[in-house]
Amino acid sequence: MYNIVLFGPPGAGKGTQSEKLIEKYDLTHLSTGDLFRKHLGEGTALGELAKKYMNEGRLVPDEVVISMVEEKIAESKNTKGFIFDGFPRTTAQAQALDSMLERHDMSISGMIALDVPESVLKERIKERGKTSGRVDDQDEEKINTRISVYFQETLPVAAYYEKQGKFTKINGVGTIQGIFNDIAHVIDSY
Ligand code: AP5
Ligand code: MG
Repeated sequence: MYNIVLFGPPGAGKGTQSEKLIEKYDLTHLSTGDLFRKHLGEGTALGELAKKYMNEGRLVPDEVVISMVEEKIAESKNTKGFIFDGFPRTTAQAQALDSMLERHDMSISGMIALDVPESVLKERIKERGKTSGRVDDQDEEKINTRISVYFQETLPVAAYYEKQGKFTKINGVGTIQGIFNDIAHVIDSY
């Protein structure tokens, strides 16, 4: 069983690589951003709550994210493991994830971090914004907020896994297939 945290700033390629990884390793994709966008689309109370944070590029409060993930893990009974995409994004979320997995007799195999320079992130997000319909992809100010929130609140999560000897950084610039091969190489070493 593999439980992988795919980590990186907004636009790093987490979603793109997750799609390929779940196919190769037959894993469950757990993207908190995608889950929130699904709730938003369906107009649920959770979607309404998350909306104001997401549209501004700020983090949804930990307790809301954690209970949504908890539900999703409990639902996925016979899975071969998870790709966590966009979660955990704070140290509190990382601690909660460790406890949740422990309750289900699982643990994190490793964190793989996609390293992409800020200028490339901005270009990718702006380009995607032309078609994504995501409010948070649309203007420079929101994109900048997302990137600075990443540096201030999310980057410490990398240190959390590094302390556990579970951290690997990968160059996230290059072809999608080339980056995928590098990630698969790390996973195969677990
Ligand atoms: P979330 O949906 O997680 O968005 P994000 O982290 O900002 O990241 P993105 O989805 O924009 O980028 P990605 O890394 O998946 O890259 P992608 O593969 O799409 O979160 C959205 C919001 O939800 C947050 O701001 C927050 O409000 C809330 N939220 C979510 N999780 C939360 C949590 N845990 N706690 C609190 N709040 C939470 O690629 C980007 C683009 O680049 C695409 O167009 C792609 O085609 C292109 N691309 C990918 N790889 C390459 C490549 N190698 N070369 C060229 N282009 C590439
Ligand atoms: Mg994504």
